[in-house]
Amino acid sequence: MRLDKLLSNMGYGSRKEIKIIVKSKAVEVNGKVAKDVSMHVDSEKDEILVSGEKVIYTEFIYLMMNKPPGVISATEDKKDQTVIDLLEPIDQHFQPFPVGRLDKDTEGLLLITNDGHLTHQLLSPKKHVPKLYFAVIDGMVTEEDIVRFKEGVILEDGYLTKPGDLTILRSGETSEIELVITEGKFHQVKRMFEAVGKRVTYLKRLKMGSLELDSTLELGQYRPLTEKELEELNTKE
Ligand code: URA
Repeated sequence: MRLDKLLSNMGYGSRKEIKIIVKSKAVEVNGKVAKDVSMHVDSEKDEILVSGEKVIYTEFIYLMMNKPPGVISATEDKKDQTVIDLLEPIDQHFQPFPVGRLDKDTEGLLLITNDGHLTHQLLSPKKHVPKLYFAVIDGMVTEEDIVRFKEGVILEDGYLTKPGDLTILRSGETSEIELVITEGKFHQVKRMFEAVGKRVTYLKRLKMGSLELDSTLELGQYRPLTEKELEELNTKE
């Protein structure tokens, strides 16, 4: 592949901009300053440095975000800020998209990637990938709710959900719970609680398949998946 194509694929700028970077002697290939943007490089074998930093050639990007409330899980929106708007331009360059949707007011784990195959593995209803949510509920969550969720509840449109594994963390006038579901219907957690006469006032996703939200990420922050996280996602899901 041509040097300028590789660097432009990796988000270092347009071909024109890369010409300027190369002219400024900032690019090295195998220890030698690159002079010609049209030189051919092998992304697997050649060592390429830009301003002393090694270029790691990748086609796919995998990011874990702690989604903040008020932001839409979409690639673009006319009105609201999207999770993609929160990414650095160098990451946006890969044209990633969120894997599934969290509601505008939901927080927590969101995988953002441009890998369509993995996305399909995670979202396919046939795969039953478990998703763990933490929620605050307006109302007292009871043992009876645990049983009803286990049997599946009937949503307002008549749909019988797959079983949900409900754990009560604190029960009172407001309750705190964890819920594992294996489906991803629109507003599913909120609608499951509505089906038992209760309202979700706060919702956060903590896990999706083997992927667990990094608790050090502040709302709106993100980081690349580690190799281990990616490997586990690919093998288990
Ligand atoms: N269930 C919901 O109700 N909302 C979400 O954002 C995710 C699951």
